[in-house]
Amino acid sequence: VEATPEWAQEVRRLARERNATILAHNYQLPEIQDVADHVGDSLALSRIAAEAEEGTIVFCGVHFMAETAKILSPAKTVLIPDQRAGCSLADSISADELRAWKAEHPGAMVVSYVNTTAEVKALTDICCTSSNAVDVVESIDPDREVLFLPDQFLGAHVKRETGRENMHIWAGECHVHAGINGDELTEQARTHPDAELFVHPECGCATSALYLAGEGAFPAERVHILSTGGMIDAAKASHSNQVLVATEIGMLHQLRKAAPGIDFQAVNDRASCKYMKMITPAALLRCLVEGADEVHVDLAMAEAGRASVQRMIAIGN
Ligand code: 13P
Ligand code: SF4
Repeated sequence: VEATPEWAQEVRRLARERNATILAHNYQLPEIQDVADHVGDSLALSRIAAEAEEGTIVFCGVHFMAETAKILSPAKTVLIPDQRAGCSLADSISADELRAWKAEHPGAMVVSYVNTTAEVKALTDICCTSSNAVDVVESIDPDREVLFLPDQFLGAHVKRETGRENMHIWAGECHVHAGINGDELTEQARTHPDAELFVHPECGCATSALYLAGEGAFPAERVHILSTGGMIDAAKASHSNQVLVATEIGMLHQLRKAAPGIDFQAVNDRASCKYMKMITPAALLRCLVEGADEVHVDLAMAEAGRASVQRMIAIGN
């Protein structure tokens, strides 16, 4: 199946017929982004899913995102074009591991990145995304211990921003972002001396970029640690000619649309998430024709996780 104008028309027609809204994450293939009703980061899409008037949500993203939509709106039908679209970061902590960690820190507040399974969310006090993680941690009583999971690099970023000492960080990582390393970033920053740097906090190099800037390798003002939605806002406000982007390469499509005058370059052009890319034009068409794959979350588990997700969508922007 090719992403032709006829394909796009058929997708739109089937979505209308099903009374469905199509949501696409910023890391989706360009043709999927272009056919969707809404494109955004994890937080924006969760908010849109919670408020959608349509009875069906077609989530073009990875499984935990569709699951989060189902937790927020259990009465809606939530479809994902390919349910095998997982997430290596969500897989880096299990519910049993979290239970054991909580037992070691009784009374601690559990802050989980939205990149987690429904089972882990059910054991969580507040979820967050990369765009509101700092606000979420700042909303917690400073005397209370915090367990932050599962991403170690986002955790390090939040700890740096909040200066919080009583925060324990799980050692998980996203294989795509962890692979965008400090050496590549330094080399790119050195060979593009006028470019700004947009760095996603899940990157292994987010910490080293700030460290290198602190060492005088390049000016700290050039480095911006941003969620994918934050990158779009920053691109619109930027006066630079060139921006180096450290995140999954699907991001470049929305950035180029948001600021056509800027030359956006990937720090690592092999940083592609194979799970995000499972949502192909063929998969989306099949999903709308067959009404599959449907996302189910056990009712009791959804009940248990809902408050943590609702706190997430209420905090920060
Ligand atoms: P955001 O869209 O919240 O920045 O998340 C990035 C991500 O890795 C999702 O998988
Ligand atoms: Fe998960 Fe990383 Fe893919 Fe995002 S880019 S969905 S965190 S594996």
